[in-house]
Amino acid sequence: MTETRIEAWLDEDRAFAPSTEFSAQANAQPSIYEEAAKDPVAWWRQQANRLAWDVAPTTALEWDLPNATWFADGTLNASVSCVDVHVREGRGARVAFHWVADAEGESRTITYHDLHREVCRTANALLELGVKKGDRVAVYMPMIPEAIFAMLAIVRLGAIHSVVFGGFSAEALSSRILDSDCRFVVTADGAFRRGVASPLKPAVDEALKSCPDVTAVLVVQRTRGEVQWTPGRDYWWHDIVQRQSDVHQPESFPAETPLFIMYTSGTTAKPKGIFHTTAGYLTQAATTYHYVFDVKPESDVCWTAADIGWITGHSYIVYGPLVNGVTQIMYEGLPDSGGRDRWWKIISQYGATILYTAPTTIRTLMKWGHQIPEAFDLSSLRLLGTVGEPINPEAWMWYRQNIGGDRCPIVDTWWQTETGAILCSPLPGITATKPGAAMRALPGISVAVVDDAGHEVEHGQGGYLVVTAPWPSMTRGIWGDPARFFDTYWSRFPGKYFAGDGAKLDSDGDLWLLGRVDDVMNISGHRLSTTEVEHALVGHRAVAEAAVVGASDETTGQAIVAFVTLKLSAEDMNKDQAALVEELRSHVASVISPIAKPRQIILTPDLPKTRSGKIMRRLLRDVAENRSLGDVTTLTDPTVVNMIAGLMDTRASSDD
Ligand code: WTA
Repeated sequence: MTETRIEAWLDEDRAFAPSTEFSAQANAQPSIYEEAAKDPVAWWRQQANRLAWDVAPTTALEWDLPNATWFADGTLNASVSCVDVHVREGRGARVAFHWVADAEGESRTITYHDLHREVCRTANALLELGVKKGDRVAVYMPMIPEAIFAMLAIVRLGAIHSVVFGGFSAEALSSRILDSDCRFVVTADGAFRRGVASPLKPAVDEALKSCPDVTAVLVVQRTRGEVQWTPGRDYWWHDIVQRQSDVHQPESFPAETPLFIMYTSGTTAKPKGIFHTTAGYLTQAATTYHYVFDVKPESDVCWTAADIGWITGHSYIVYGPLVNGVTQIMYEGLPDSGGRDRWWKIISQYGATILYTAPTTIRTLMKWGHQIPEAFDLSSLRLLGTVGEPINPEAWMWYRQNIGGDRCPIVDTWWQTETGAILCSPLPGITATKPGAAMRALPGISVAVVDDAGHEVEHGQGGYLVVTAPWPSMTRGIWGDPARFFDTYWSRFPGKYFAGDGAKLDSDGDLWLLGRVDDVMNISGHRLSTTEVEHALVGHRAVAEAAVVGASDETTGQAIVAFVTLKLSAEDMNKDQAALVEELRSHVASVISPIAKPRQIILTPDLPKTRSGKIMRRLLRDVAENRSLGDVTTLTDPTVVNMIAGLMDTRASSDD
């Protein structure tokens, strides 16, 4: 998202005061900010009491930049805090998940008691397959309950999950498996999307051709499609999990035991394995879920409409909600599986009280028209959340008026894979909300907006968002690459965490996020690096060079625009250019994922470069967004960029 665009969004004067009706019953009281500010580390130590400790910690933060530990001398088992404790304390009959299938009419109800049984059985099955403490296990799954059973069973054994989004290609999967040396994979035969079965297992088979150290693949049967089978390596879930004992005695692990790895795009072609450890992460996931979503476990029906393949699914479908012991909706399908009214059907049928989703989805629902949600009773909703990218005020207002009945507070939550949990957000019932603003740091968190020199900006000014003190759920690093961890986050502004986001403080001092300031793009809330897509493009035989930029897009926030020069072989020479562009778009989808498919590919005889040979991405972004071109004097050949701008005008774009 470009700064110019957001500047136009800033609408500082429109604010919604917290409703008194909400404030009266809110989990957080206004004094919480002061209490936490007095001694943030002690405050977080208090919050850690939300977990079921075997040995309570006597320490909180140990900080040796960039390395933090939290609560290090305590011991616990993450799955016990999520599951066993609720059963032990008499809440076993409460529904943990109302699972709703892609197909209408198919659903499952999973109580905490059921969850406990399934997690124990899955843990026993994984033990039988040889999973031990510290092993890495890849999870490549659709949105089915078994994905959650697997994640919790893995951490129950002290092993580490690396969930790879089911939409990623075989190549993306194998590079992630290799990077963290996963020895096991949990997957399914396929997934349903709008009633159509799409296979997953073939991608695993393909990926594992280059991962010889994977010894076992556990496969859930979901679509009943044909699958290839490697005896001795592949095991059906129903064969091996179902026959296990319902009892599994959990071991207690030190607080800093690694919990999971989640790959995310950085500014290079190689995704980073961001890893999180147990107690700090769980404490902040649970605390933020409690306060930001104001959850009332006895009465709420919470729906985080995200995929477990991303950090939002980890923190706000699995860990945060389960530590709080809430009832959730878990939905397998797309917003229009079975029709464009599917979400509203689900909300009214289950009486959802909290909905958390991404601005892209809100903009899509908005395009479909307010008449669709209007036909449903959405009065059960009491709080709405948004995450993943800046939300434009139009979408925010639409969400508030058409979904929230002009009564539900909206929490615009800023955070990242690396931060593990929410850092900036309004607190419902306490903080005013403004359409498009994340407002302020949560209690116990310190952020600032700084200029190029690292000095805090005045109200009314923009700069870079930094975090100025360590927080419990901060990533403990990039798997296998401590130097990259320091360089990426801790070297730009000494002593501060550099998030990579632009931000602005308005005249009231409230915080607005302006989008990435690096080469990371945000496509429908999914992070992708420009270099990653360029890398995929130059991997195609016809491509000589590629430059990729993220251009603003009405629906997806940003969309990928690629500028490509060709080295045509005899085979490609005769191809129609449009056919070649289509081939390149599909090529990127198959190398990375359909989410990385460029909206537009411009074939050009040359790319604009500085005299030192660097591609001038800034100019290409201007071209892609139809802006007037800035200073081109540093270019070797200023005519190139005008020529490309000319090509943009004449080529039709395709946008599926
Ligand atoms: C962006 C997703 C504006 C931001 C949880 C960040 C946001 C990146 C917001 C992290 C928000 C996330 N307003 N921008 N409320 N939330 N972002 O790692 O650019 O997939 O750096 O984590 O998304 O994306 P990630």
